[in-house]
Amino acid sequence: MERRSFVSLAPVAALGGLAAAESQDPPISLAPRPYAQYDDWLAASRRASLAFIKEAGAADTERFMQFLALWAVGMPRPPLGPWEEIQGANARLQFSTLSPGRPFVVTTFKMGPGCVQPAHCHPGGGGITVCLEGSLTMRHFSLAPGQAPFKETGAEVEIEETAIARLSTNTFTLFTPTRQNLHQLEAGPEGAVCADLIVQWQGAGEFSYLRLGGGGVAASPRVGQRLKGRWVGMNIAKAYA
Ligand SMILES: [Fe+2]
Repeated sequence: MERRSFVSLAPVAALGGLAAAESQDPPISLAPRPYAQYDDWLAASRRASLAFIKEAGAADTERFMQFLALWAVGMPRPPLGPWEEIQGANARLQFSTLSPGRPFVVTTFKMGPGCVQPAHCHPGGGGITVCLEGSLTMRHFSLAPGQAPFKETGAEVEIEETAIARLSTNTFTLFTPTRQNLHQLEAGPEGAVCADLIVQWQGAGEFSYLRLGGGGVAASPRVGQRLKGRWVGMNIAKAYA
C-alpha cells in the first residue's frame, strides 16, 4: 500500500551475515514471553527471528510468517505516530514507520471512519496486520494464474477472494508472497489503528493498487468470487476512480 513507499525494505535473503553475528549472544528463546514494553519485545523478536533464519533458513515463506505470527500476538501496544498523511485516500489515512530494520519492519497506520484502502499487492513480501484500536475488514485476494504482473500498469487482471478477516482490537491476519498477497482494507464506523509486521523476500517494496469495478472497491465480500480490475500503480487516488 501507499505507506510502503516510505519504508526501506531489505530483502530477508540478505540476512546470513546478521544471523552469524548473533551467534555470540546468550541462548535465545524462539517463543515469546510476556513483554510489558514494546522495545523489549522488538529486540527479543528480532533476535528470535534471526536465530530462526540461521537454523531453518527463510526460503519457506509460509513457515517464516507462521513463526512471526507467534511474536505478533505477543506484541505489547506499540508507540503511535508521529503520523504522515496519505494524500488521495477517500477518507483520512495516516501512516508511521515505527521500526525500520531487519528481518522485519514495523509500521503503523490509522484509518478514519469509512476509509478504504483499495486492493493492492505486496510483491515478494509477507505481512501481519494487528488491529490495535477500532475495527476493520481486511479482504484477502490471490491473483488468478496467468495474469499480468503488477508492473503492467493498465492491464486488466482477475483475482479470487480467498479470505475475509474482520479485525478488532488484538486480532490479526496475515499474507505471504504466494498466498492471498493482495488485500483491501475497510475501516469500521469508529475507524481503526493497526500495526504491520512486514517481511520482504524480493524487491524493495514496489507494489500496485488494483482498481476494481464499482468505484474501485470490491463488491460485497464473498470467499471464492472472482473479480476483475486494472493495475493503476502506487497512487492510491487512481484506485478509486
Ligand atoms: Fe497492504
